[in-house]
Amino acid sequence: MNESLTIAMPKGRIFEEAAELMKAAGYDLLENMEETRKLILQFPDQNIQIMMAKPMDVVTYVEHGAADIGIAGKDVLLEQDRDVYEVLDLGISPCYLAVAGLPDTQMGKIAPKIATKYPQIASDYFREQGEQIEIISLNGSIELAPLIGLADRIVDIVSTGRTLKENGLVEYEKIVDVTSRLIVNPVSYRLKSARIDEMVRSLSRVIEENAV
Ligand code: PRP
Repeated sequence: MNESLTIAMPKGRIFEEAAELMKAAGYDLLENMEETRKLILQFPDQNIQIMMAKPMDVVTYVEHGAADIGIAGKDVLLEQDRDVYEVLDLGISPCYLAVAGLPDTQMGKIAPKIATKYPQIASDYFREQGEQIEIISLNGSIELAPLIGLADRIVDIVSTGRTLKENGLVEYEKIVDVTSRLIVNPVSYRLKSARIDEMVRSLSRVIEENAV
């Protein structure tokens, strides 16, 4: 029997694409898996266990070895700088991090306020630009902040651009492109290398085929 594998999957917008990729790579997962309220799904035939995690928490589960493998956005990996191996760019859920705000407004005043759920990325970015800022940490609906005068700018994910547009905001600068990555716990990688390498190979094959 294969070694067992525990995989932390991110609930939410990445989930469906990630599950499709896994299925195309030969992992026989359930249809409509995200509809369940169960947090741990067992696939004994394949000796796989899937954990349904919040996207921001996937890296924590993998770093602590609660999951051998996880799927996490590059945004989360940049923000959290954790002790995990990033082994494969899955190319799914492409989006980017950008600075945005109300149109025709200056950031000129001393220490403008930047609302974000990526305090580390935002601080690093503005430090590199030589700008002193104040971070306002929020957990979601970041676009609210400039609308109600809480912040001068936001640093947030742009995917289709709809949220910015529908809230009358504009993009000022792009910071970095983001896709989802396969991450691995370093100890699991040593102990279960055959199984993990096999997964990386089959996912890579699907990614290459999809790229053609
Ligand atoms: C993300 C992001 C933006 C939005 C961008 O939020 O924070 O708000 O998606 O997508 P768009 O460019 O396609 O409009 P998410 O929906 O994950 O929820 P959140 O606001 O709670 O973070």
